[in-house]
Amino acid sequence: MKSEFEIAVFPGDGIGPEVVAEAIKVLKTIESKLNLKITINEAPVGGAGYEATGQPLPDASLDTAKKADAILLGAVGGPKWETIDFSLRPERALLGLRSSLGLYANLRPARIFPALVDASTLKREVVEGLDLLVVRELTGGIYFGEPRGIDTNEKGERQGFNTLIYSEPEIERISKIAFDVARKRNSKVCSVDKANVLEATGFWREVVINMHSQYSDIELSHMYVDNCAMQLVRNPKQFDVILTTNMFGDILSDEASMLTGSIGMLPSASLGEKYAMYEPIHGSAPDIAGKELANPLATILSVGMLFKYSFDREEPNRWVEEAVESVLGQGKRTADIMSEGMMQVGTQEMGDLVVAELEKIN
Ligand code: IPM
Ligand code: MG
Repeated sequence: MKSEFEIAVFPGDGIGPEVVAEAIKVLKTIESKLNLKITINEAPVGGAGYEATGQPLPDASLDTAKKADAILLGAVGGPKWETIDFSLRPERALLGLRSSLGLYANLRPARIFPALVDASTLKREVVEGLDLLVVRELTGGIYFGEPRGIDTNEKGERQGFNTLIYSEPEIERISKIAFDVARKRNSKVCSVDKANVLEATGFWREVVINMHSQYSDIELSHMYVDNCAMQLVRNPKQFDVILTTNMFGDILSDEASMLTGSIGMLPSASLGEKYAMYEPIHGSAPDIAGKELANPLATILSVGMLFKYSFDREEPNRWVEEAVESVLGQGKRTADIMSEGMMQVGTQEMGDLVVAELEKIN
């Protein structure tokens, strides 16, 4: 098995650099536990990329990504860049990485840690034991469809428009991912669309059904996105794998994250044929940046996913989850998951606590 790796690290903006620093501590701990040699190549993207080169995704950063075995990203964006041209906004870096690297499959697991059941805004019986996975299509749909833009119509009125479009191969490959991962879980896929209104997602449903003929062992159901949004807070444990489009997946994964107590807890993996990128699902939270308030756990858990999917090592992912569970079990909480009777810790301390737990695991 390969034991030397290169990782591209893009800390990004806001709390990105803080949470990535803690994730790197965890990565290094696992590196020495497993006797690996991991080279880290850091580069600016997002607002940081724009400040350094005038481009949110500098060519050199994209090259760093392409040379790496895996990419770890913090978060991008901030008020400083909200007024610049759309094509130069920090978010373009993320979208550019996803499309240039062909990262079409976004896996966003929402699992509740037993110690955090009471941090959820929902009742214990609704969320206890929750373990679902959102499989979000990431390089197509309305995020990338053409035509797009803002112009003036025949009546002289300004108008904005985007295009929701999916080709058959795009739907087939993401369905395949969902069915394949479901096989390693509870063998249930719920495909989420708006087939009653949008032709593009009616087509989505048709293609998912066709693909399902190769997966008779998987139970497939369909749900409209509005109903899914409701079911996620009514009875989220009915779901195993949720398969959905780019925009619906964006929205539903934020919703799913809150079931687990905080958006600061959810990792993600974005996979393509050749490349893979790991990042927390939360944003750059500029309001709390630099205040030791950010929760590094989503990024730390993303490192676990990196070992699992890119380095073909399942164990570190389990170790990281166990370490996080023990730290939470000790009552240690960052501000976002703080509750009465618990002990609040800062970003760096949370990272150190996870490392200390990892070091105890043989
Ligand atoms: C996410 C984020 C991004 C998205 C933004 C920052 C472009 O919300 O990864 O969920 O919409 O995909
Ligand atoms: Mg989002």
